[in-house]
Amino acid sequence: MDDVAIARGLHLLGVVVWIGGVSMVTTVILPAVRRFKNPQEQVAFFEAVESRFAWQARFTTLLTGLSGFYMIYALGLWERYTCVAYFWMHMMTAVWFIFTVVLFVLEPLFLHRWFLRRATADPDGTFRLVQTLHRVLLTVSIVTLFASLLGAHGVEFFGGT
Ligand code: HEM
Repeated sequence: MDDVAIARGLHLLGVVVWIGGVSMVTTVILPAVRRFKNPQEQVAFFEAVESRFAWQARFTTLLTGLSGFYMIYALGLWERYTCVAYFWMHMMTAVWFIFTVVLFVLEPLFLHRWFLRRATADPDGTFRLVQTLHRVLLTVSIVTLFASLLGAHGVEFFGGT
């Protein structure tokens, strides 16, 4: 087995655990939490789930990014960034960048404190906003995943240029 095959395996492993987790939080946990009657329990439960998942998401984001850039380096794919037909490469990088900034910069710096403050003052409005943001990120991630799978398996977009 060559190093690119291992990197590809790790890449997909990272993507599955990471985007799968985002899907679980968005489509199962958040809707369930929004039905809680007690706002304090709502915030405490969501915090407990999100803080555990945040570490998994950080690790898998790192794994996906490192393995992805390794494949670009090992296969000499940097030129793809100059070509519209490889828009799925830009999308992968953009999704990875957004999550990296949220998980490694915004959350530890202020997002977590902002969430606690806002959820205490307005639990309903805050969870609605959090769910909308999760839905947007999940949709973009799934579109990216689908386009990347097609692209990596030979589908040519925009005539391949
Ligand atoms: C810095 C971030 C990323 C980089 C540099 C990167 C890079 C790559 C590279 C070089 C490939 C191989 C393409 C080929 O064989 O032609 C690949 C495959 C793939 N990537 Fe990414 N990627 C990144 C993030 C993501 C993200 C966030 C997702 C999902 C949302 C994703 C999903 C996939 C999928 C599904 C494949 C196809 C794997 C296969 O079946 O061969 N990647 N990526």
